[in-house]
Amino acid sequence: MILPIYIYGEPVLRKLAEEVDVENTDWKPLVADMFETMYHAGGVGLAGPQIGKAIRIFVIDSEPFKESIPDVQIYKGAFINPVITEEWGDDFVFCEGCLSLPHLNEDVVRKSNIHIEYYDENGEFHESDFSGYVARIIQHEYDHLEGRVFTDRLSPIKKMVIKRQLNDIASGKFRADYKTVRKK
Ligand code: NI
Repeated sequence: MILPIYIYGEPVLRKLAEEVDVENTDWKPLVADMFETMYHAGGVGLAGPQIGKAIRIFVIDSEPFKESIPDVQIYKGAFINPVITEEWGDDFVFCEGCLSLPHLNEDVVRKSNIHIEYYDENGEFHESDFSGYVARIIQHEYDHLEGRVFTDRLSPIKKMVIKRQLNDIASGKFRADYKTVRKK
């Protein structure tokens, strides 16, 4: 089922998302809906708060990057109750976008490598290292669980420059090719 995507300005995007019960809940149906919603909207990642649920779940699939970055590592997966325990490596600049911030793209600097612990939708625990673009998608989605969006990471000057755009999005002046939620 395709779910509507919550847009910048919605309070749920600013909440600290809560851990979920991995053992006693079947998260497969929600994860399937999240993948379907993400693909429909043309994204490479989608986090719980973006579908109006302040819970610690996100899905990613780096495959669409292949068009512009031929050597990109392809990784698809769900991350439940994830914890990034370490970030290291070079500062890596990448132009990010977000389904909750339609048509806004800006360079964001993050570390190139991460170590993350998480459960998948089958309730299995994993501990993995990721780097490059896959790490980047995970870092972006992980921010959503912490109530952050990528524009929070821009310099004060850059924030000034995009202030009008952000205000427009928050006040409903945006276009998206997918169903959205922005109550004013
Ligand atoms: Ni996002």
